Amino acid sequence: MKKIVVLTGAGMSAESGISTFRDSGGLWEQYRIEDVATPEAFSRNPQLVLDFYNMRRRELLKASPNKGHAGLAEMQDEYDISIITQNVDNLHEKAGSRRVLHLHGELMKARSSVNPDLIIDIDPENPEIKLGDKAPDGSQMRPHIVWFGEAVPMMYEAEREVGKAEVLVVIGTSLNVYPAAGLVHYAPAGIPVYLIDPQEVAVHRQGVHFIKKGASEGVAELRKLLKEII
Ligand code: APR
Repeated sequence: MKKIVVLTGAGMSAESGISTFRDSGGLWEQYRIEDVATPEAFSRNPQLVLDFYNMRRRELLKASPNKGHAGLAEMQDEYDISIITQNVDNLHEKAGSRRVLHLHGELMKARSSVNPDLIIDIDPENPEIKLGDKAPDGSQMRPHIVWFGEAVPMMYEAEREVGKAEVLVVIGTSLNVYPAAGLVHYAPAGIPVYLIDPQEVAVHRQGVHFIKKGASEGVAELRKLLKEII
């Protein structure tokens, strides 16, 4: 089976009603990153940060996977496919994808604010992290999210995975944020690369096949194109 590695970003979940970051009306037009998505923000005003992620978690609990998520899950029967996502939602998993690596953390998980390995699943019935909620080590619980300025622990595993790809697919990311955006350069030279996005995306690599569509239609077109080359 051909090894396909898929790198997804916020646009993958846009059709599920989840806000992107840099589209018009995106999250970074409504909030300042330095107020809600850095360790300094959390120590300065933990309530504001907890409220931001509690709002995003409530939005996620109302969302369902779209046809793009479903198409990638169905491809597991045809290809050796793995997903590396910048998204913190669980819509790939909800659609049935079994191999999903989250580079920037997971919204439905919380963790100790002193031990990053002390991670706890969040109960969808009780989805808020409140000031005063303690981890087993007695520290304030925080979202299990990689904030700006923090290390991206899964990066090495992601680089190795992309380095083994026979086909690379990039869906719904502006490729603005490193180190995630740099993954494109770990793909072996000469392999087919497909990029699905309704907008133009600057990608500094030769031979990229642009599918200028949304995730749902784009994944359907990708599957047709792959049948022609594999
Ligand atoms: N289908 C596919 N792509 C779409 C759709 C759609 N329906 N709608 C929008 N897009 C595209 C946009 O054109 C854009 O290129 O999705 C991309 C979203 O880009 P960003 O909002 O920058 O999101 P992303 O690239 O995932 O951001 C990376 O930045 O803020 C951090 O940690 C955060 O993981 C995030 C990272």
